[in-house]
Amino acid sequence: MPIVAATSENLALAGDAIQQGLTVAVPTETVYGLAASGLQTEAVSRIFEIKNRPVFDPLILHIDPDFDLTEIVHDISPLAKKLMTRFWPGPLTLILPKTTRVPDLVTSGLNSVAVRCPSHPVMRELLRLVAFPLAAPSANRFGRISPTTALAVHEELGEAPAFIIDGGPCSLGIESTIVDCTVDPHLLMRPGAVTLQELREVAPVRMIRKTAEEESQVQKSPGLLSSHYAPRTPLYLSARPLAVLKEFPEQTAFLFWRQVPRFPPLTFRVLAPSGTSQEAASRLFQLMRELDASGAKRIWVDPIPKEGLGLAILDRLTRASSGMI
Ligand code: TXA
Ligand code: MG
Repeated sequence: MPIVAATSENLALAGDAIQQGLTVAVPTETVYGLAASGLQTEAVSRIFEIKNRPVFDPLILHIDPDFDLTEIVHDISPLAKKLMTRFWPGPLTLILPKTTRVPDLVTSGLNSVAVRCPSHPVMRELLRLVAFPLAAPSANRFGRISPTTALAVHEELGEAPAFIIDGGPCSLGIESTIVDCTVDPHLLMRPGAVTLQELREVAPVRMIRKTAEEESQVQKSPGLLSSHYAPRTPLYLSARPLAVLKEFPEQTAFLFWRQVPRFPPLTFRVLAPSGTSQEAASRLFQLMRELDASGAKRIWVDPIPKEGLGLAILDRLTRASSGMI
């Protein structure tokens, strides 16, 4: 079992493994990442292999706060600088024009690269030890639910990483927010742990892509919806609060927002017991995993309030879903 405690000895061993071009699963404040040397094509190719990820899906480079950014990016806009000052270290990823130091495999041949400076102490220590950027996508098989615990990484990737460093459950539980700073105005590419409202206090960031929900409404066939973050059990979003249901269909698992019906169904979880979107985000992927493992034939999910992290939660759930009920 490659799961190890986050001791300084184990981090040193993990750093050595990365120096040798191997992969290591590491906790971050958002989700666990599968890390490898970000400036070595061969190391990066291991990530794609292990995740079974298509090479047209580019990776994020993670950096230490002291790393000289000009090695990997150029023409950093004044607004991008403001965003870095406000949100780094933390769950914000910025897309910037790349230098030739960044292997094409990292960026899938694009001339921009995604960069993030994470705040998790274990990831920071590893970045300090290796002193180069780490490429790290979420440590799941392509298209599956992102892992927020070391055990969930093991469930996804088995013995493939040289180490899975156990840093406990991720505090935020949902991936970083991605902003494309190569276009004017800067565009929100993925809603995430930094909310649109927080971004807009610093910079006039625009939402380009429709939300996944809007996208799904214009899809002619639900099968065309880019399936991602997906459990193996078909998942459906409910248009109305589930607590009003008088009867629950059999072999169905339920993800309630907060309110549990007086006569609850057999299998259910509660996303936000105290009603905050931060709490819901931190529990989302783990509860999806548990309901997926429950043996139910389908999962029904309560409507998600759109405030705070609700937008990011709804984005992930919509991508995971097979439709609305
Ligand atoms: O919170 C996170 O961001 C986690 C932790 C591990 O840091 N990482 C993560 O990585 O979510 P990943 O690979 O699962 O998602 C990165 C997303 C992908 O959807 C990819 O398409 C997009 O970032 N991306 C990366 N580089 C890009 C670029 N140059 N242009 C546009 N999109 C890019
Ligand atoms: Mg991912």
